[in-house]
Amino acid sequence: MTNQGSPQTADCPFHEGEDHRKSAAASVGGGTVKDAVQTYTFDAARAVLRNQSARQAGFMAEQVGKIGSATRQPILFLEGEAHRVQRSATARFFTPKIVTTRYRGLMIRLSDDLVRRFRACKRVKLDDLSLELAVAVAGDIVGLTDSDPQGLAARLDVFFTGNFDPPKNFIKAFARFLHQQYLVLRFYYKDVAPAIRSRRKQRKDDVISHLIDQGYNGREILTECLVYGAAGMATTREFIVMAAWHMLSNDAIRTAFLEGDEHEKVAILEEILRIEPVVGYIYRRLHEDLPTTEGGAQGVRKGDAVAVDVRAANTDVAAFGTCPMQIQPGRKVSAKYGNAGLAFGDGEHRCPGAQVALQETCLFLERLMQVPGLKLERAPDLSWNQLVTGYELRNCVITCD
Ligand code: HEM
Repeated sequence: MTNQGSPQTADCPFHEGEDHRKSAAASVGGGTVKDAVQTYTFDAARAVLRNQSARQAGFMAEQVGKIGSATRQPILFLEGEAHRVQRSATARFFTPKIVTTRYRGLMIRLSDDLVRRFRACKRVKLDDLSLELAVAVAGDIVGLTDSDPQGLAARLDVFFTGNFDPPKNFIKAFARFLHQQYLVLRFYYKDVAPAIRSRRKQRKDDVISHLIDQGYNGREILTECLVYGAAGMATTREFIVMAAWHMLSNDAIRTAFLEGDEHEKVAILEEILRIEPVVGYIYRRLHEDLPTTEGGAQGVRKGDAVAVDVRAANTDVAAFGTCPMQIQPGRKVSAKYGNAGLAFGDGEHRCPGAQVALQETCLFLERLMQVPGLKLERAPDLSWNQLVTGYELRNCVITCD
């Protein structure tokens, strides 16, 4: 607990009670797990995520698990020892040193190129630029580098948007199944298979090479690539647009971002992500009763699905102090909560790509925000993605002189 209880006027530079969240209204869209018990406080949310008996129930894990029980599961669906082994084997792709050396150069090159193209044509959809950046950076970490980058972005984009409720009508359900199969095969043959072929000839330092070493087959590598697509690319793409939208509609935030050093810039991005988490609910199924002492989450029984409400946790006054719905550059948050709260999850599945996402967003936006005459011509359309349980921002048009 930190600045809780400080005088409202000193802590809230904005109007008392003002709510900066742009995506809150869309969050009623919920997710793919029905009848889940919901958490409300930060402590209850974290207690569920850290509970040893909690199993992944989001990202369609329970449906996918049933269908593909003979194949090895992707990292997001693994549990216990198998999960620990994969996490430590892939940790080297996410160390602070690698992020600030190998990937930083790539992020700067990509950001410079995107900003140069924007300045040349003067009017772009920001969500197209952010997709290209997020796919290229995560694609490099995964090893999806043997197909055309713009085609790869478009082929991945189709998986993460849409309605995930199964159609009741059999014909429609079958037609959707066939279409999904076509999209998966197209992604496999155009992007994943060429990457596997080239790494079988010459191994590289990326996730696909690691999976080949482990004896993963093509189908298993495909599934892992789809997980990285949803967890790493779709999320970062949305966050970049959200952060830019806040900066372009609030001069105080934009100025604080531009004037801060890199550490302060990242802290502002975390503060934006705290109130605008891209993953709104993290689902778990508990295999034991949750002790009532753990974080005050009561009545969670063995077998229950729990919707960990990241939005509620991240605006808990007990953790983040007064005016929790506002973006306050320089907000003092105790390390035990973290500046971004639970936006990157917690416990054994906590996002390994957090630093990658924050650094690429920072490097891109610091360049973009300095473009002369930069304006938001059209605020993005806001919709809700049930798979990621997060906002989707489309048709965000920016212009410059
Ligand atoms: C703003 C951007 C991002 C957000 C908000 C985000 C959020 C999250 C969250 C909440 C989880 C935990 C899911 C759960 O516990 O069920 C997660 C897991 C994961 N994320 Fe991220 N992520 C982002 C960027 C990235 C990037 C850039 C990468 C990789 C390049 C990445 C790779 C992963 C992977 C592999 C997992 C699964 C980890 C595991 O199961 O052990 N994420 N992410």
